Amino acid sequence: MSKLHIEPFFHAGTGTWTYVVHRGGDAVVIDPVLDYDPKSGRIGTESVRAVQQYLQDNGVTLRRVLETHAHADHLTSAQILHAATGAPVGIGTGIRKVQAHFAGVFGLDPQDPALQEAFDATFSDGDRIEAGNLHFEVMATPGHTSDSLSYRIEDNVFVGDTLFAPDVGCARCDFPGGDASMLYDSIQRFYALPDATVLWLCHDYPPNGRPPRASVTVGESKAANVMLDGNTSREDFIARRRARDAQLAAPVLLYPSLQVNIRGGHLPPAQANGRRYLSTPLQGEIPAALG
Ligand SMILES: [Fe+2]
Repeated sequence: MSKLHIEPFFHAGTGTWTYVVHRGGDAVVIDPVLDYDPKSGRIGTESVRAVQQYLQDNGVTLRRVLETHAHADHLTSAQILHAATGAPVGIGTGIRKVQAHFAGVFGLDPQDPALQEAFDATFSDGDRIEAGNLHFEVMATPGHTSDSLSYRIEDNVFVGDTLFAPDVGCARCDFPGGDASMLYDSIQRFYALPDATVLWLCHDYPPNGRPPRASVTVGESKAANVMLDGNTSREDFIARRRARDAQLAAPVLLYPSLQVNIRGGHLPPAQANGRRYLSTPLQGEIPAALG
C-alpha cells in the first residue's frame, strides 16, 4: 500500500491547522476553516479553496470531512467541501449536548432539522472510520468540550484542541461541557501511546516569534509540555488549568463560530430581506430602560 501523506494548512487569523490526509486516491480533510472577518461580517472561501486546490493537484478524491469538535474560535467550511464532493461530514456524538446547550443560547429549537440533520455521521469512542483505503480509529477525548474526538491512523493522532505545542500547553476547559479532570484523562490516553506517535494539533499560537508547528511526538509532549508533562498529577493540572482559564477572555469568534458550527457549517437562514445574520446574546444586567 502506498505511503500515508499528511498535509497541514495553517490559518493564521485563528491559529488553526487543517489537515488533508491521503493515500493512493483517497483523502480526508480534518477541521477545514471558513474565513470570516468579524469587523465587516465578510465570509470568505480562500482557505478552503487552497485545500480544494491541493486535492485537485494531487488527484485525490475526498471521502470524508471530519471535525474534531464544535469549534468556538473559527467557522468550519465543511459544507463547502460537502457541496463540492458529496463527502459526508462527521463529528462526535457529544455534539448533541453542545447543540442542546447552544440551542438555548441562540433561541433555537433543539429538534430543528438544521441541528438534528447538521452532520452526516456521528462517532463514538472505538468506532472505526473507513474512507477508501484510509482507516481511522476514533478516540473520545473530552475535556476541552464534551464532543471532542481524536482520530488515530497508524502512528498519527489528530488530537483537536486536546493538546497544544509543548511551549503553549493545552486547551482551556471552561466552555460549557468542559472539564479539566476529563481533559487530564484524555491526555493520559495519548501519553500511554508509544513515544514516537505523532500528535497533530488543531491549533498553534506560537510564542516569541517561533514559526507555527503542526505536530509534536508523544515523547516530546511528555517531556516538555508546560501545562502537563508525563509526571504532572491530576490535582496539579486541574489547579493550573483553572487558574489559567480564569484569566482568559471569551474567544473573539465564540458566538459566530458556534452558531455556524452546531449547524454543521451551514449559516443561519436568510431573513425576509434576503440577508443572513449572526447574533450575539447580550450579557450582564440589562437596564430596564433599554428594553
Ligand atoms: Fe476548540
